[in-house]
Amino acid sequence: TEATRELLLSRIRDVPDYPKPGVLFKDITPLLADPVAFGALTDLFVELCTRHGATKVVGLEARGFILAAPVAVRAGLGFVPVRKAGKLPGATLGQMYELEYGTAEVEIHAEDLSADDRVMVIDDVLATGGTAQASLELIRRTGAQVAGVSVLMELGFLSGRERIRSALAGAPLEAVITL
Ligand code: PRP
Ligand code: MG
Repeated sequence: TEATRELLLSRIRDVPDYPKPGVLFKDITPLLADPVAFGALTDLFVELCTRHGATKVVGLEARGFILAAPVAVRAGLGFVPVRKAGKLPGATLGQMYELEYGTAEVEIHAEDLSADDRVMVIDDVLATGGTAQASLELIRRTGAQVAGVSVLMELGFLSGRERIRSALAGAPLEAVITL
């Protein structure tokens, strides 16, 4: 509802010039510290998992872990981490992606998803879409289907939605708040 969106927006703090000059950082720690707001966001994400028939919840390191883990528990679904490269001990799939300066890589345990799975990807922010796009590629390479991508915030002016369009392959991208 609109009241829930207002509550969530009121618990996101703007931090100017962080982590570098000219960047307006969206700090979600006030939201996490408010159990009513965090609970309401979790319920919203659970509802999206149900609506889109998810069988697994994927959280994107690091802030996506915080938001996605309680969703998995409340929805009764398994949680699968997409981690920054070098952190997972088992057999992994890896995907590089472009940053503003340079490249980054994310990994997943290949055995954590299979062709039977429909995956809901959860993160705090969709900015340029690089992180989400690489994560969607990883999920496809496991053979799983993408049920959707759900984020707390979409920064519309960075056009992440366009960047991930082909990787979504028709799956829905839902943002609780669009900025
Ligand atoms: C941030 C944010 C998203 C990502 C969005 O993660 O949490 O995951 O950037 O940016 P993009 O759409 O341009 O890829 P970051 O890796 O900076 O930090 P974190 O480890 O705290 O989540
Ligand atoms: Mg992140």
